[in-house]
Amino acid sequence: MSFHIKQLSYKNFLLMEIKNEKNILIIGGSLRAKSFNKYLASNLIEIGKEKFNFEIFSDFNLLPHYNTDDHNQDNWPNTLLELEDKIRKDDGVIFVTPEYNFSVPGYLKNCIDWISRLPNQPLDRKLVCIQSASLGPLGGARVQYHLGQILVFLNAKVMNKNEIFLTFAKQKFDEKSGKLTDEITIDFI
Ligand code: FNR
Repeated sequence: MSFHIKQLSYKNFLLMEIKNEKNILIIGGSLRAKSFNKYLASNLIEIGKEKFNFEIFSDFNLLPHYNTDDHNQDNWPNTLLELEDKIRKDDGVIFVTPEYNFSVPGYLKNCIDWISRLPNQPLDRKLVCIQSASLGPLGGARVQYHLGQILVFLNAKVMNKNEIFLTFAKQKFDEKSGKLTDEITIDFI
């Protein structure tokens, strides 16, 4: 660490400290094009861009259904390996997800099942938080607790606060641009 600091100019070092720069991976959105959770994910990037470097993973449809018969450590799907790299190198992960039937959407659960089979699975001790957007008045509260339970099993460090449940999503985004227009929500996030 001290060697690394010596390589930086003092000014850059101070800037890094002030900006508290961290790399964050967002795993999120739903499969549909105009997903409110995709919108939430891209608004997070805008809101947090001064402090964080973000990247998004939402290619859930490129992962086949997990099947123990097919899985072979020499033949992991490329999408999974790319996702693994991102999880390992980034400082934290934000899951941004809809709630389906009070729980975790199948494609996200499938993605986590794949991740969980990797050797030295990368969510172990990873700092993680969860956000959700839904059309209803609870904003996906129940999916957050179910997802949290899965992540506890994977030994991720799940942040308990602040909880961001984006309720009544239809009224809070500009439908065309996907921009979050609700000031109270933007401030809270
Ligand atoms: C839903 N939706 C929903 N909403 C909610 O608040 N609680 C729920 O349990 C469910 N269940 C559910 C199941 C299924 C199969 C679908 C397709 C939808 C509604 C959901 O909040 C809404 O469709 C969101 O727009 C989904 O998020 P995206 O796709 O906009 O990101």
